[in-house]
Amino acid sequence: MMKHTEPMLKEGALQGKTILVTGGGTGLGRSMSKYFLELGANVVIASRKLDVLQAAANELQAETGGQVLPVACDVRNYQEVEQVLAATLERFGSINGLLNNAAGNFISPTERLSHKAFDTIVGIVLQGTYNCTLAIGKHWIAQKQPGVILNIVTTYAWTGSGYVVPSACAKAGVLALTRSLAVEWAKYNIRSNAIAPGPFPTKGAWDRLFPPALQDKMDVSKKVPLKRVGEHQELANLAAYLMSDYSAYINGEVVTIDGGEWLNGAGEFNFLEQLPPEMWDEIERMVRGAGKSK
Ligand code: HXC
Ligand code: NAP
Repeated sequence: MMKHTEPMLKEGALQGKTILVTGGGTGLGRSMSKYFLELGANVVIASRKLDVLQAAANELQAETGGQVLPVACDVRNYQEVEQVLAATLERFGSINGLLNNAAGNFISPTERLSHKAFDTIVGIVLQGTYNCTLAIGKHWIAQKQPGVILNIVTTYAWTGSGYVVPSACAKAGVLALTRSLAVEWAKYNIRSNAIAPGPFPTKGAWDRLFPPALQDKMDVSKKVPLKRVGEHQELANLAAYLMSDYSAYINGEVVTIDGGEWLNGAGEFNFLEQLPPEMWDEIERMVRGAGKSK
């Protein structure tokens, strides 16, 4: 029996491609990088901490037999992003895909934030994404070469969310960038898509969004209609598909992978799920009776 935790795409589905994954040394970026490697891609992982990247690169190469280039880069700095591109071309000769995955986030009441805290999150998420997109997009256009951009957003990119306001603003901007360039750069054969994950446990996100004092009070899987958090392979399957030529006609899409979580919070009457089933007989009697004259 097939399981959702299994790799999905055909062997060699990303063979011959070189993909840059920002934030590829940890968490979801690492998991997606691993699957890209298993499917035959070369992967460049870029983030600030070179020691973390180097350790991840060694492990990923040992696990998959693929080629990984770790490059230190703060995505907020355009020159550093250009250096990642140069290092990629020197090592692999070309670049075919960009996964904008690096992010910064933490929970806080907005009035407690300094303007620098706001700058920091928007800098990593929005500026980092447009820096990488611009540098690599310009390269593809100059080389008359096709390319694929995949941006990791969140479901609150369109709903907004209190307590993560800089992240919500930045992810909304990334979604606008995705949809805008899907149209503008289609003529260059550059596709732009996004994925909006629900909760997928990672150390980076859990330390900053669900610290122990909060975890004791709330079980995040209870907010999800499917009553579980996501498995990294499920996300990796989707990302690999959107990176691959199998999705050649998908452009400008944002795919939600959250077990129904955001709609659960949005649907006016979804709270009725809390009612004990035996109450429905009485409720039906009352509702049916409402229209009848006494
Ligand atoms: C209030 C805070 C704060 C906090 C930092 N700041 N943490 N303010 N509450 N908890 C303020 C600092 O005081 C400083 O402002 C400014 O933010 C920058 O902080 P630095 O520590 O100097 O920044 P830096 O070293 O660049 O670190 C960036 C970071 C850090 C975002 C703060 O957490 C980080 O490196 N994060 C990377 C990984 C990450 O965040 N992963 C989670 C992604 S999860 P002042 O004014 O004092 O100088 C995600 C999932 C969403 O996005 C959806 C889940 C379901
Ligand atoms: P994570 O492990 O903390 O990943 C964030 C990565 O971004 C780290 O590798 C970090 O590396 C890198 N990064 C941060 N600032 C950077 C900068 N200035 N320049 C370059 N790289 C930088 O968290 P994650 O949970 O895997 O998150 C990955 C993505 O998924 C993010 O876009 C996040 O918003 C999204 N997401 C996650 C969830 C979830 O439930 N986990 C849900 C929805 C969306 P360095 O520290 O080395 O720089």
